[in-house]
Amino acid sequence: MIEVKHLTKRFGDKTVLDDINMVFESGKTNLIIGQSGSGKTVLMKNLVGLLTPTSGDVLYDGRNFVEMDKRGKALIRREMGMVFQGSALFDSLTVLENVMFPLDMFSAMTLRERTRRAQECLDRVNLIDAQNKYPSEISGGMQKRVAIARAIVLNPKYLFCDEPNSGLDPKTSLVIDDLLSGITKEFNTTTIINTHDMNSVMGIGENILFIYKGHKEWQGNKDQVIDSTNERLNDLVFASDLFRKVKKMEIKEERKEQ
Ligand SMILES: Nc1ncnc2c1ncn2[C@@H]1O[C@H](COP(=O)(O)OP(=O)(O)OP(=O)(O)O)[C@@H](O)[C@H]1O
Ligand SMILES: [Mg+2]
Repeated sequence: MIEVKHLTKRFGDKTVLDDINMVFESGKTNLIIGQSGSGKTVLMKNLVGLLTPTSGDVLYDGRNFVEMDKRGKALIRREMGMVFQGSALFDSLTVLENVMFPLDMFSAMTLRERTRRAQECLDRVNLIDAQNKYPSEISGGMQKRVAIARAIVLNPKYLFCDEPNSGLDPKTSLVIDDLLSGITKEFNTTTIINTHDMNSVMGIGENILFIYKGHKEWQGNKDQVIDSTNERLNDLVFASDLFRKVKKMEIKEERKEQ
């Protein structure tokens, strides 16, 4: 569980995040949504320590990350896995070597153990057959899956993904969502996903934070999205009122059938 308390971030006199309060739960896919420029990436960077909040606290299972010294922060960082915008793979390393990289850096395992662990993770994302390929030789969706395998190789308690579906087609995005959701359940990770993808909201939105111009506008789950009367939320998720009405009807019909 990650608790965010009164988090504010300013750059100069520009307030990008304004008094955000939120609990990101373990074993759940927590989503951060909001229009471009609303502050999603800045929030995630404050959570993982790439930026320091102007004020406020971030608690990792009760441990106050903001107030910690370097050593304490380093320990918590070891419990984090991250998938950045783009896949950020090393072009000169094979898929297997990319996934092994965190183990090479941070574990005391033998080469054999590291290889085995990396292969387990590649297997988890269905990519064991691509282990000897280079990133340039595989598709964008596969690259994303390699990045996810790399993010989970150290058994993280906290998994952060900034726009994991950007640049992917809807079907491939579903595969990525299923994978992230599956991993979250399997390992009980606190997973936080920044997303623009409204299919993700309706698919894996178990706990959703909607940021509007830097403040917390709404919080709820995917079911509550459908019935929400928050105009800003409806505009973001359903784009137009007509589309919203159609979508709501569709979803309600689908549920009746189930
Ligand atoms: N280092 C920085 N210095 C000053 N302003 C910044 C900095 N980083 C981000 N911002 C500003 O903070 C605001 C929020 O940016 P952020 O990248 O968090 O948006 P976002 O919600 O992730 O958008 P997108 O959906 O396009 O990724 C923007 O106005 C951006 O210009
Ligand atoms: Mg962003």
